[in-house]
Amino acid sequence: MAERGRKSGQQDKRANGKKNGSVSNLIAGYVNLTVNGESRKLMIGKDVQTSDTLAHTIRETLGLTGTKVSCDHGACGACTVLMDGKPILSCMTLTVECDGKSITTIEGLEDPKTGRLHPIQQAFIDHTAFQCGFCTPGIIMSTKALLDKDPSPSEDKVEEALSGHYCRCISHYHVLEAVKDVIRKSEER
Ligand code: FES
Ligand code: FES
Repeated sequence: MAERGRKSGQQDKRANGKKNGSVSNLIAGYVNLTVNGESRKLMIGKDVQTSDTLAHTIRETLGLTGTKVSCDHGACGACTVLMDGKPILSCMTLTVECDGKSITTIEGLEDPKTGRLHPIQQAFIDHTAFQCGFCTPGIIMSTKALLDKDPSPSEDKVEEALSGHYCRCISHYHVLEAVKDVIRKSEER
């Protein structure tokens, strides 16, 4: 399950950002991120406001619209991205909290050389594990984090890892089949 931020006020979130990020960068007025392997330097007040969520920065500033925002308050998992390999809810994370972090979005999963889809993405297509697809990028990112940590998780662990994701199209059973297929194929290798 992606880490959930607290539903606290902006003031509180800003304070967290200063605590977690690189203070010297923030004082200098920049947020440095690595997004899908590329360094991005964002000027505070120009490229990024202190109140901007990571979801907003990813989609509106960096143009990576594969990450979806649905509930926008930490309840559905649609906005999940990886921060230093761990799933986080980007709608509940301020960009200034992410200074110095490595962010992976759904756009970062395909093979950069061949353009081939990641095996998890391919399995979701093979098993028709979506309908509208709005929840899919977030589910795939949580699956990636799980399988990077544990390539052969039990079904219970898969269900637990994906339990924070709502799919309004009720594709959950197909999602489980897709994830089991990825696990099976990696075990056969
Ligand atoms: S959009 Fe972030 S949890 Fe729903
Ligand atoms: S496929 Fe539509 S919300 Fe999940």
